[in-house]
Amino acid sequence: MQQLIDDFGRRVSYVRISVTDRCDFRCVYCMSEEMTFLPRAQVLTLEELEMVARAFVELGVEKIRLTGGEPLVRRGIGQLVGDIGALPGLKDFAMTTNGASLDKHARVLREGGLERLNISLDSLDPQRFRQLTRTGELEKVIAGIRAAKAAGFKRIKLNAVILKGRNDDEVLDLVEFAREEGLDISFIEEMPLGDVSDHSRAETFCSSDEVQALIETRYPLMASAESTAGPSRYFRMADSETRIGFISPHSHNFCSSCNRVRVTVEGRLLLCLGNEHSVDLREVLRRYPGDMEALKARIIEAMPLKPERHYFTTDGDVQVVRFMNMTGG
Ligand code: GTP
Ligand code: 5AD
Ligand code: SF4
Repeated sequence: MQQLIDDFGRRVSYVRISVTDRCDFRCVYCMSEEMTFLPRAQVLTLEELEMVARAFVELGVEKIRLTGGEPLVRRGIGQLVGDIGALPGLKDFAMTTNGASLDKHARVLREGGLERLNISLDSLDPQRFRQLTRTGELEKVIAGIRAAKAAGFKRIKLNAVILKGRNDDEVLDLVEFAREEGLDISFIEEMPLGDVSDHSRAETFCSSDEVQALIETRYPLMASAESTAGPSRYFRMADSETRIGFISPHSHNFCSSCNRVRVTVEGRLLLCLGNEHSVDLREVLRRYPGDMEALKARIIEAMPLKPERHYFTTDGDVQVVRFMNMTGG
């Protein structure tokens, strides 16, 4: 079996594929208010996306996560999930979604072989939820979470990006909600991708250590060795199945154990979230339609381009002009 190994000896076993740059929300840390989206011709077709996923699995990738924008606004997402879910050799198949239309999609996704869902939830207050997402309705996301539970996903994790002065007073409420619903939850430090203009990232930065200290005022946390092969460091509480994760690109850099690459919806294979190193897969897909070997060769060629680490800072500088919706988080 072929494997993808970079120049720092890290094996790439996890691919995050963005299936659309569009989203029905405009979260303040992710997009600017007046976002424009890509023309259809620049976006990979469903067939191209399936072929990319298959190429990676044939190259030893075991985990695929579909992201966006919002993956559920992509027409035909149910079919794509079914096609990828059927790939032999894939061990972990997941999606990151804003949850707003999960009530419609959850069952089909589960039947298509999707096993795990990460659902973004930054506030439990409807008005504040609207401010943070600019267009979102909290009620719909809660309905989506319930639908996902009913559909029998193996593991559902909430994601909360914590911004000082905006939602840091809700950390304990979010933990309570996760406990009551029997879900995991990860708290994320905001990353400087795209110029969001809504707030000063230097002022709103809230470190994982601060969030953890807040949680420990109510629940002592025990470090856990569990891993989803993602960037979260997990902790447990004594009296609950809920796992609490911290994704801390600023305060606890995890680059040395990085196992992942990303494919943007334009077919750019990005070797790191925090850099622009990339190769163009769409060009190969369209120049040699259906040629799996050519596609795999381009992917293998890209491995030496994977940088050692990102250089994000918390001083408000935008180091990567790309917005998160182009990358899929
Ligand atoms: P699992 O571990 O599979 O549950 O997924 P995850 O937590 O990695 O995925 P999710 O899509 O929920 O992403 C949560 C946050 O982690 C997002 O803000 C991502 O941008 C961030 N993240 C994921 N991978 C990386 C990475 O390689 N580098 C950095 N800096 N952030 C990452
Ligand atoms: N920094 C950190 N996390 C972000 N997300 C989107 N933009 C950012 C950012 N600038 C998160 C979303 C979602 C995940 C895919 O990425 O909240 O949970
Ligand atoms: Fe890997 Fe880049 Fe993420 Fe660091 S920022 S963990 S090198 S993808």
